[in-house]
Amino acid sequence: MLLQERHPVVAPRRRPRPLRRVRYTRAMRVSLHEARLEAALQILLDGGVETVLDLGCGSGALLARLAAEPRFTTIVGVDVSGTALLAAEQRLGDAGWPSDGRVSLLHTSFLEEDPRLLGFDAAVLLEAIEHIEPDRLSILERVVFGFCRAGQVLVTTPNREYNDLYGQPEQQRRHPDHRFEWDRARFQDWAGGVAARNGYDVSFAGIGWKHPVRGCSTQLAHFRRCAGPGGRSPQPPPPR
Ligand SMILES: C[S@@+](CC[C@H](N)C(=O)[O-])C[C@H]1O[C@@H](n2cnc3c(N)ncnc32)[C@H](O)[C@@H]1O
Repeated sequence: MLLQERHPVVAPRRRPRPLRRVRYTRAMRVSLHEARLEAALQILLDGGVETVLDLGCGSGALLARLAAEPRFTTIVGVDVSGTALLAAEQRLGDAGWPSDGRVSLLHTSFLEEDPRLLGFDAAVLLEAIEHIEPDRLSILERVVFGFCRAGQVLVTTPNREYNDLYGQPEQQRRHPDHRFEWDRARFQDWAGGVAARNGYDVSFAGIGWKHPVRGCSTQLAHFRRCAGPGGRSPQPPPPR
């Protein structure tokens, strides 16, 4: 997948030399965020998805984009933070929500087996996994891939190899709330294991300008549930 070529958000003025440093400005952060949203939206549109769970939706940037596409019939934003959900509500309200009832917000955790998270075509975790402790990733795997079992799952997370280009010291993370940041090999190892254990295929892409050695700033895994008995999606319980 060539997302990085479609989104040259941190393109240098001239051909880079390996390990050249890039000053990480607020404008670059914003445009990388935009590129992630655009990449996720494109994958969901291309993948024939109609119902979407945005897990760790934050202030609702992706929800607002999804709501603008009539293709998406059910859009659910999930966050543990009430403050984030209020911001999402405000953003969606400014954009005309909830007039058609396609969008809703849930105050719950993607580490809990909540039946309201069942039966979706796709689940998205944009810049969310690095906000939980690494020893809770097995819970995330059980809930998102074992319990929710959306047809497709998108996960993005920072590529640690790229941090040097921002002039960051080796051990420093991009955000103080990040509990970990992985290089591409570590992310692909984790995602490959998750896919194999839970009946999914997975492919990888980069988002942002691609450094010849260090790759892209953001890495993305696109999981697709395999056909067959192991690949079935559980359905929500009927209303009482
Ligand atoms: C960096 S923000 C990303 C927001 C949004 N996905 C985006 O890309 O703009 C991470 C979000 O994940 C949420 N989060 C962290 N742990 C969570 C959990 N266990 N369940 C649901 N949301 C969680 C945080 O509250 C925060 O809003």
